[in-house]
Amino acid sequence: MAAIEWHRVAARDELGEGDVKTVLAGRALVVLTFHEGRYGALDNRCPHENAPLGEGFIENGWLVCPLHRYEFDPHDGHPSPTFDEGPPAWPVELRDDGVYVGVENLAAAYGEARAAFLAATDAAVALIDATAGAREVLIDWRRAAVTGTEVEPPAGLPRAVAAADLPDALAIARALRAWHDAHDAMRLAYNRIPREEKPSVARPPEKYPSPPPASGPMLTFG
Ligand code: FES
Repeated sequence: MAAIEWHRVAARDELGEGDVKTVLAGRALVVLTFHEGRYGALDNRCPHENAPLGEGFIENGWLVCPLHRYEFDPHDGHPSPTFDEGPPAWPVELRDDGVYVGVENLAAAYGEARAAFLAATDAAVALIDATAGAREVLIDWRRAAVTGTEVEPPAGLPRAVAAADLPDALAIARALRAWHDAHDAMRLAYNRIPREEKPSVARPPEKYPSPPPASGPMLTFG
């Protein structure tokens, strides 16, 4: 996991077997549990409807949500068969001076995702620029996409470009996919940061056009 920050959240023997407690790890609310002689730490929000899991309890080996009683493994967060999603689990360390929980530094995770996006963009742009005719093909294709006509491009625009028409078409298609995925990952990382803490985002330099959508004519290369 990217960018973990450790926080002391309890004394070593603060919880007894079966105890559940809400603690603050930095700015993150965490439900701390002690079950079968081990501490566990999960995001405090129930993935069902955001009830505070720290007000739940352990029963039959499961951490039970206080609102609709969905059950989660207190150590790794995986749900019982009654539900298909669990809360994120954070790493726990028992140190000499207490219990420490590692939570993700969301701003740092976003910084890493943005750096990965710029690297993926550079790689795709370099490949396109090194391929004669590629930029023109892409510009035409983007024009079709931007006007919302991917399904039926304007007359004269190809829906797909055969590999024979463009050297390195497959490599370019892969680079575009990586670029698109990196863009999605960056957007998700940004959205996870609380509104009041969101960094202001400088627009990428002009040489970085928007990545193409995940599906579309470019990905039919081959
Ligand atoms: S909010 Fe937790 S089970 Fe519904």
